[in-house]
Amino acid sequence: MYVSYFFEERIKPMNDLLKPTVFAIFGGVGDLAWRKLVPALFDLSQENIIPSHFSIITISHHELTDHDLRKYLSEGVSKFARKVPENSDVWDMFSKYFYYLKGDFKSHQTYIELKERCDWIEKEWKEKPQLIFYLATPPILFGEISQQLGMVGLAIDKEYSRIVIEKPIGTDLDSSVHLKQILSETFHESQIFRIDHYLGKETVQNILVFRFANSLFEPLWNRRYVDYVAITVAENIGVEHRGNYYDKAGALRDMMQNHLMQLLCLVAMEPMTAFTADEIRNKKVDLLHAIRPILVDEVDKFVVRGQYRKGKIDGKAVCGYREEEKVATDSKTETFVAMKMFIDNWRWQDVPFYLMTGKRMPHQVSEIIIQFKAVPHRSFPDEAARDWQSSRIVITIQPNEAISLRIQAKQPGPKILLRPVELKFNYSDFYSGPLPDAYETLLGDVMRNDGTQFMREDQVEAAWKILMPVLESWSKNDPGDFPNYDAGTWGPESILELLEQKSHCWLCPE
Ligand code: BG6
Repeated sequence: MYVSYFFEERIKPMNDLLKPTVFAIFGGVGDLAWRKLVPALFDLSQENIIPSHFSIITISHHELTDHDLRKYLSEGVSKFARKVPENSDVWDMFSKYFYYLKGDFKSHQTYIELKERCDWIEKEWKEKPQLIFYLATPPILFGEISQQLGMVGLAIDKEYSRIVIEKPIGTDLDSSVHLKQILSETFHESQIFRIDHYLGKETVQNILVFRFANSLFEPLWNRRYVDYVAITVAENIGVEHRGNYYDKAGALRDMMQNHLMQLLCLVAMEPMTAFTADEIRNKKVDLLHAIRPILVDEVDKFVVRGQYRKGKIDGKAVCGYREEEKVATDSKTETFVAMKMFIDNWRWQDVPFYLMTGKRMPHQVSEIIIQFKAVPHRSFPDEAARDWQSSRIVITIQPNEAISLRIQAKQPGPKILLRPVELKFNYSDFYSGPLPDAYETLLGDVMRNDGTQFMREDQVEAAWKILMPVLESWSKNDPGDFPNYDAGTWGPESILELLEQKSHCWLCPE
């Protein structure tokens, strides 16, 4: 596929357009800050997408000097940033933005000192900065931090003060509603940025562009032409060092409730009338409301859960989930979940949507398949069309970002013989160098006060509502067969029973 669009032209320096910014990270020396946030801010600085007046306040209870902090963060940047500092001057320039505030997140004194620092900065810059509070902390602290920020007056200005939180946004519907109530005592909804890092991935952002900036595909994007849609986010990694968190969460809460639901929204929502945050979020919420509820008694007909046992990945032996660090030896937590959903609206009535995610799969792949129906009448003789395969679009989110379209073509030669071939758009053919990391995009959006790629509260609640019957059924019924798939396979075989038709499949055959 020929695409005459060059990504290099996309990024324009904009530091003068951004308001002076104080970026405060609670949990500023934790893993998230080290691997993702600080490297993303560094990359933004290298693209000239941070304001001329900029300060990063890292807050944590560790005993650290400014020097220690800078050294520690520079290691993270060298390892994870897209643009590794070419020399020490580049890093030195960036590291001047840092200020370390040692403090306990539960102590009021920490917030008084933070306020003093922000006031001091404002005086120095002679300009009011926007204040961004990034909570890279366990969710249990979200309420406390937000209330304390309110108490010292750091949340008053709706335009200038923002809070950013990471998933999980609650562990079920009730807890997410409760969290909303606590946050809303201090922050207005427009000040709350709920991160789902999938929304910052280039290929994910491209879904709306692909659908609504090309007149070619959208007319076919409905029940008349689409046979089914499959959304897969498979990982080959296990739970790594996160057994403690993961064993309480499981795949449904960790991935399905957020990342896969967001992908589903982007693939299935109605066209937005304007590219504005609320308009896009309204369309997503409409879509979530149209998903056919699953009854508690019928969960097994629509959902399959799995847990990996030991197996092999890339020829290497790996342990089973129950042998992982900080995981209960009789754990009932799912590391895999597959769901069939229907969307009750004019566009999608009766089209199955298959969603699947799991850990310790044979390899990492995140992709969306739009499988089209067979042609209504085959005009070609049977012997010409033995290899016939219906058209499909595959959007590959990772690891190799691409969009491909499978069509039938004539095999060269004297006879008419049909063969499926692919038209493919690889990001790497049009963009040199690694794509911006999702956090880079999202942190830039927070600084521009653009909530388009963030989850609004009603979206979060709508997604929980869909999954509550599943959680209820699972809490009543033990998964009798856990562990039920070998590490290095595509999950339990029972997922085949979810398919509406034999011709449907969960993944593109390799
Ligand atoms: C996180 C989950 O949100 O997403 C992890 O908590 C998962 O369990 C990760 O591994 C996957 O993200 P990515 O960007 O590597 O596909």
